[in-house]
Amino acid sequence: MKVSMTVNGKSVSRDVEPRTLLVHFIREDLALTGTNVGCDTSSCGACTVLINGESVKSCTTLAVQADGADVMTIEGMANEDGTLHPIQKAFQENHGLQCGFCTPGMVMASYSLIKENDHLDEKAVREGLEGNLCRCTGYHNIVKSVLAAASEMGA
Ligand code: FES
Ligand code: FES
Repeated sequence: MKVSMTVNGKSVSRDVEPRTLLVHFIREDLALTGTNVGCDTSSCGACTVLINGESVKSCTTLAVQADGADVMTIEGMANEDGTLHPIQKAFQENHGLQCGFCTPGMVMASYSLIKENDHLDEKAVREGLEGNLCRCTGYHNIVKSVLAAASEMGA
């Protein structure tokens, strides 16, 4: 089947098998390997991307379901001049990562959480990111990072 979508602002079109998962399409067909696969069972959130601004787990989404959509991956987050997005900057400044495996998914999930909420506090961030697992940080600095980014972004 032919699928066409916009990924990080660029139009892409490919022939895929109907069963192709969006995460495999992103990683293998588009060679955007910042989106990770941690579990393949919709548990860890490492594969989180945005479809039309909403965070989704791309390991449980078919590429054909994103046909015609506007998709953003971690590679699309930084500004065009290469400077980091405020969320990426906040993770860097607040030590919101260690090994970094969960980080692309955390950043993408945080983006939609911040966009969807006018006011975020610690509880709301913890609840909002409960679908994203981190085996390293103990979450404290991730929450700090998201709150710092939210205040920078006016949420
Ligand atoms: S790889 Fe998608 S939720 Fe874990
Ligand atoms: S920083 Fe290692 S899994 Fe989160």
